[in-house]
Amino acid sequence: MNSLVRHLDAEPSASPASFRQAMRQLAGAVSVITVGRGDAISGMTVSSVTSLSAEPPSLLVCINRNSSSWPLFESCGAFAVNVLHAGQQPVADRFTGRGGISGRARFEGAEWTTLATGVPVLVGALAAVDCTIEEIISRHSHAIVIGRVAAARVADPQAPLTYWQGEYLALGRGADAARITESE
Ligand SMILES: Cc1cc2nc3c(=O)[nH]c(=O)nc-3n(C[C@H](O)[C@H](O)[C@H](O)COP(=O)(O)O)c2cc1C
Repeated sequence: MNSLVRHLDAEPSASPASFRQAMRQLAGAVSVITVGRGDAISGMTVSSVTSLSAEPPSLLVCINRNSSSWPLFESCGAFAVNVLHAGQQPVADRFTGRGGISGRARFEGAEWTTLATGVPVLVGALAAVDCTIEEIISRHSHAIVIGRVAAARVADPQAPLTYWQGEYLALGRGADAARITESE
């Protein structure tokens, strides 16, 4: 396995503020990552899920190692990606930890099941992708978590929940969404 790491501490660096401002322009699909099994479960809202490869099926997500869910990634060895539709914004809100809700309490008010790994997946999510952790790459404040997909399922197509300019948006509730979902 090859990897190239360059140490760039002496290189010019944009300010965090200008970087954040640039990233606010990047519209992203909103997912809830779930982790743990049984009573020891947690999760968080993310926009950093990216497909990695189809053969083998794998994806990655970037997770803040200071988040309350992080210890479970290291101990559980599995996680799930729950891609949200526009009607699931309340679930996204709970999983940001707003109001101090943490751990198992974040799962209240929605229906959950399991697929292959035993990690909870959201019933009715646009897609639920259940993963075994293949590799964790710690970098800066975050970790790149690579998941090998053990099981995946999709719901009927509908408008996805996205995040842009610091706001939730339902992508294409207009003509484009109608055209796309009708052609599925
Ligand atoms: C739209 C959106 C996208 C987010 N994406 C990420 C992400 O990709 N990675 C991450 O670590 N945190 C992300 N967060 C922040 C986490 O949801 C939040 O910090 C975390 O759940 C709260 O941390 P806690 O579990 O320690 O309370 C995102 C938040 C929002 C609202």
